[in-house]
Amino acid sequence: MQTLFLYGPPGSGKTTLGKLLAGRFGVPFEDLDDSIVKIAGGKSIPEIFASEGEAAFRARERAALEAACAAPGRVVALGGGALLDQACRAMAERGGQVICLDVPSGVLKARIAAQAGTRPLADASEKVDRLLAARGPHYDSFPVRPVAHFAIDSGDVPSDIFVGRGLLDTAGVWAAARKLGGRAVVVGDSNTFPLYGDRVMASLQKAGFAVRGLAIPAGEETKTIDTVMSIWRAFLAAGLGRDDFAVAVGGGVTGDMTGFAAATWMRGMRWINIPTSLLAMVDASTGGKTGCDLPEAKNMVGAFHSPTFVLADTQTLGTLPPRELACGMAETVKHGFIADPGILDEAGVSPIQVARSLAVKVGIVTEDAKENGVRAKLNLGHTVGHAIEIATNFSVKHGEAVAIGTVEEARLAVRLGLAAADWPAKVAAAFAKAGLPTTLPDGLTFESLAEIMRHDKKQHGGKISFALPCAPGDVRLVPVAV
Ligand SMILES: NC(=O)c1ccc[n+]([C@@H]2O[C@H](COP(=O)([O-])OP(=O)(O)OC[C@H]3O[C@@H](n4cnc5c(N)ncnc54)[C@H](O)[C@@H]3O)[C@@H](O)[C@H]2O)c1
Ligand SMILES: [Zn+2]
Repeated sequence: MQTLFLYGPPGSGKTTLGKLLAGRFGVPFEDLDDSIVKIAGGKSIPEIFASEGEAAFRARERAALEAACAAPGRVVALGGGALLDQACRAMAERGGQVICLDVPSGVLKARIAAQAGTRPLADASEKVDRLLAARGPHYDSFPVRPVAHFAIDSGDVPSDIFVGRGLLDTAGVWAAARKLGGRAVVVGDSNTFPLYGDRVMASLQKAGFAVRGLAIPAGEETKTIDTVMSIWRAFLAAGLGRDDFAVAVGGGVTGDMTGFAAATWMRGMRWINIPTSLLAMVDASTGGKTGCDLPEAKNMVGAFHSPTFVLADTQTLGTLPPRELACGMAETVKHGFIADPGILDEAGVSPIQVARSLAVKVGIVTEDAKENGVRAKLNLGHTVGHAIEIATNFSVKHGEAVAIGTVEEARLAVRLGLAAADWPAKVAAAFAKAGLPTTLPDGLTFESLAEIMRHDKKQHGGKISFALPCAPGDVRLVPVAV
């Protein structure tokens, strides 16, 4: 494995993440500042600065970096200015993979204030502002900038999830870190493979993997066992064994089928998911569900099989069609209503917003890995939404149906005395802001949808289980006779 250099401003979590990743990959961890102190005979960094000056400190830092580059694969946390020097930067970029953590300034301020103990928040805030004004462009010039990492151990396979920009080009680095076998098949759809397949394949090839690519037809209509068969055949042609792996590069359709093909290949092969739609990033990529449709019903065949890595590269959202982006926003807004109302205030789609939305799903699925209790909250908007999809023969897209469905469910909450009268309008405003419809299509009423729900949903004593939005962050599981 290539050495991973974790970089970024003070307080960005380089040491915490570095230790965690080194533990997960079974490789040594090195904190470069600790190495400098050790080589200086125990002199602390402020002492080195005071007695020798900054130039001498940078020389010591450079020598320590040289030694780290010469050592075999490990995870190294760098000091916040270690790569300001061009020669040092070139050395690290040649000697390994630089990962420059991208943490919101508000989080940096809170962490630095906490580290300093008694230091007032205002001081920490000023310090961070000054540092980012001076070094922001430097940090931004690094191509790989994760804003979040989630480690999941509750599913069938331990997963690492990264969110941020530039991650597409790191697939090979992570595959090598997890010691995945030597061969891989990269699966994209007819839209995503031409856009991103080459970059993913190049990253894997650079890390020494033998790679083949496969483009499947785009669209839910081809989420069938025939398409899964074509993926299995590509595995066969590439000679994949149980220790090898598959990589999905695309939306939820590509991820669900590639994951299912991997789950069933030789009774279970590992896979990496690179979701490229917003919906796949915040929803389909987590929770371990994989599968395909039957002509009669969606998602009827499948398996729980978590990917070893999820790389949510937010730069890929730049090519996502606006209607698909809006559909992903529906699940993002849904996560906001369930557990993080602050998401609703974020403007536009940002890496932080993707990370916060994903954090809600990660929190719920790790609490409830096989879907018994709280995971049902994720059905918010979906009980009515699914009936809308059926009633309109799927001409209303899933995310649009979820938006309208959530508003209808907010109205139901009002009728049941569980929410304030002005609540449905607030729910509607949040979805409208994301460019989504909020009113029932012509000809549909709650009563006509209830008829579909009674047929479609499992009933318990004549009642249907709803996840009802009652207030921001307050979604309740309520059986209702509709
Ligand atoms: N596994 C789960 O837990 C889970 C959860 C929710 C949804 N799903 C499944 O996910 C599917 C929906 O996912 P989806 O909305 O991503 O659908 P999708 O995979 O069909 O992608 C939507 C469209 O966007 C295109 N696209 C994707 N990324 C792009 C990009 N970066 N640039 C340009 N075009 C891009 C695709 O080619 C496709 O045409 C459904 O089949 C659903 O059942 C699964
Ligand atoms: Zn959904």
